[in-house]
Amino acid sequence: MRVGVLTGGGDCPGLNAVIRAVVRKGERDFGDKLVGFADGWRGVVENTTLPLDVERCRGILPRGGTILGSSRTNPYKVDGGVERVLATLKDQRIDALIPIGGEDTLGVAAKLADEGVDLVGVPKTIDNDLSATELTFGFHTAVQVCVDAIDRLHTTAESHNRVMVCEVMGRHAGWIALYAGIAGGAAEILIPEEPFDIAEIAESIKRRHDQGRYATIVVVAEGAAPREGSLALQSGELDQFGHVRLGGVGNLVAREIEERTGFETRVTILGHIQRGGTPTAFDRVLATRFGIAAIEAVHEGAFGNMVALQAGEIVQVPLADAVGELKLVKPDEFRRVAVPFFA
Ligand code: F6P
Repeated sequence: MRVGVLTGGGDCPGLNAVIRAVVRKGERDFGDKLVGFADGWRGVVENTTLPLDVERCRGILPRGGTILGSSRTNPYKVDGGVERVLATLKDQRIDALIPIGGEDTLGVAAKLADEGVDLVGVPKTIDNDLSATELTFGFHTAVQVCVDAIDRLHTTAESHNRVMVCEVMGRHAGWIALYAGIAGGAAEILIPEEPFDIAEIAESIKRRHDQGRYATIVVVAEGAAPREGSLALQSGELDQFGHVRLGGVGNLVAREIEERTGFETRVTILGHIQRGGTPTAFDRVLATRFGIAAIEAVHEGAFGNMVALQAGEIVQVPLADAVGELKLVKPDEFRRVAVPFFA
């Protein structure tokens, strides 16, 4: 078979491990010819391919990023985009596609599957917010990067009796903030799913410091928002999937904490450091398992599906189940898990 592979959306540690697994299994076990599309759906719209074989994949397992490149191009937002996608697939004689991506890339995949394109999706996002899979690769790495940073923030916070605000990624879902905050021993964790009250946070930090604990770590997800919109949030341009560019709530939270408590407060925005660099061993294994399962699913003809992790097993789920609704932190569960750590 001729199988096309693409990586779309924000890059993510483990993408190359998926690509390598698909290529090795496809070429060696099934005798496939793999075709790489450059920069996500853009490469399919523009008919831009990259060579993809076992030789090209040597040494990429530990490398972050994606050898295929990525973009947030949405064929449904480009003039004649879908027709161009179909023309490319015909021109390249593609029998099946393996799009690797998050809600946006796989949302496009789900629509194309409905239009008759044979494809199997692979879930990817550091945010871990895709439904129908317990985990996405990249999340474990991102959390580890955050925890390493928070550990370092603790020692400088203690030396200077400061409050340290650490802003992490998570546009709609607070999974990174929650896991990094718990593992890093944060005093406060602010997530998009649970609007925060800055006055309450300032009070709780004051109480903490009254008890003689001066170093306070506050982890805030970039998509966290104040209750009743009491703080103005930064807005920016929209991408082709309608997402605003975030980044900045940490500065606002830090400024408010300092003004309300009088404690010196500093902010660290981890940003894309969370997405770059080498995947953890866990993510390499998960990504490899997903890649192998995806090419197997292609040969089973299990099109319109996504490979997923459920109860430790790799399974196939309809793409529609994965992209219908985001997997968010449940506020009740958040309080139950996180509150005892705040005191
Ligand atoms: O979706 C993954 C993600 O890393 C989000 O957490 C973040 O909001 C977004 O991508 C950033 O996107 P970009 O790299 O396009 O600024």
